[in-house]
Amino acid sequence: MANAFDTFTLKDITLRNRIVVPPMCQYQAVDGVPNQWHEIHYPSMARGGAGLVIVEATAVSPEGRISPGCTGLWNETQAGKMAGIAAGIKRAGAVPGIQIGHAGRKASANVPWQGDDHMAEDDPRAWQTISPSAVPFGANLPRVPREMTLEDIKRVQDDFVGAARRARDAGFEWLELHFAHGYLAQSFLSVHANRRTDGYGGDLAGRGRFMRETLAAVREVWPERLPLAVRLGVIEFDGRDEETVADAVSLTRDFKSLGLDLLDASLGFTTPEANIPWGPALVVPYAARIRKEAGIPVSAAWNVDTPEIIRDVLADERLDLVMLGHRHLSNPHYPYTLAKAYGIENPGWKTLPESYAHWLDRYKASDER
Ligand SMILES: Cc1cc2nc3c(=O)[nH]c(=O)nc-3n(C[C@H](O)[C@H](O)[C@H](O)COP(=O)(O)O)c2cc1C
Repeated sequence: MANAFDTFTLKDITLRNRIVVPPMCQYQAVDGVPNQWHEIHYPSMARGGAGLVIVEATAVSPEGRISPGCTGLWNETQAGKMAGIAAGIKRAGAVPGIQIGHAGRKASANVPWQGDDHMAEDDPRAWQTISPSAVPFGANLPRVPREMTLEDIKRVQDDFVGAARRARDAGFEWLELHFAHGYLAQSFLSVHANRRTDGYGGDLAGRGRFMRETLAAVREVWPERLPLAVRLGVIEFDGRDEETVADAVSLTRDFKSLGLDLLDASLGFTTPEANIPWGPALVVPYAARIRKEAGIPVSAAWNVDTPEIIRDVLADERLDLVMLGHRHLSNPHYPYTLAKAYGIENPGWKTLPESYAHWLDRYKASDER
């Protein structure tokens, strides 16, 4: 029976607690290069007390960015800046993680506050998107992607490996592959996006092949001693849910045999027709089923963010880690707020600088006078 402030060890890495800042795009990068915003934002989340801070969906190639403001890890300039961010997160006591991905047919989009839709085709910043099949997402993302050739598939997989190597060399200690949210990898898995008739389409084995091969290739360069996670869209809420969740269990077993250490259960988002029952902890039942049936640690986000829910999902061992997105955006010190809600006045993070602990003690002593 775990609680939020228990440590969590996976491979050679120990988190000081079970609270995670999930990847959240900031849309502030230029040419994929992080800047002062990211240098402040990510370490401040770590300073706030979380055990693991995962840097936003970072593109493995220019065409893999969701928007022109997304970060990338396809060159050494980006990697150099990311190294500073990883060091900052670590200095503030959290484990530095990063999510790498390719946006597929959802790429080439405007940032959310400029529409969240595809950029106009004549916008000089727009680019041709790619996907397993020439099938558009629809709704706000109507552009028809180019169907990927076998060479494209190999190139993107090599890009994942290159980004993983740069993440490793930049000092990140936790890598998450973005296989969710209707981006490229999830599009291979989804019947809504994949109409291929070659070995990368058809049945679950074919539709899961891109993910399995990419994971195996990344594991070759990502050190064995460091955790490798996948964020997978395990449910779509499109009326085919039993099949989708069963596929996710089966795929997670495959991933585990290829070296996966943790499954981060999330949503599919491959069709605008989905009818998602937004509510508390909506993904947790499916994450818990995968945890049990595939025998692997799991994390999940999506409204797992009140003191009661956090206590219950950890105590019942439905999740191993809780991910709190919006909470951290509005309050980077949310773990302190949570500790207070549990009646823990000074959570005493083991990694707090000694000087800070010293001043807290002095402050307490003066309070008592
Ligand atoms: C501003 C913003 C950016 C996000 N960017 C990403 C991302 O880069 N990668 C990802 O997998 N999820 C992304 N998400 C989803 C979050 O990781 C998280 O799953 C979601 O916010 C639900 O958790 P919450 O209810 O605690 O906020 C983003 C969410 C927000 C609010």
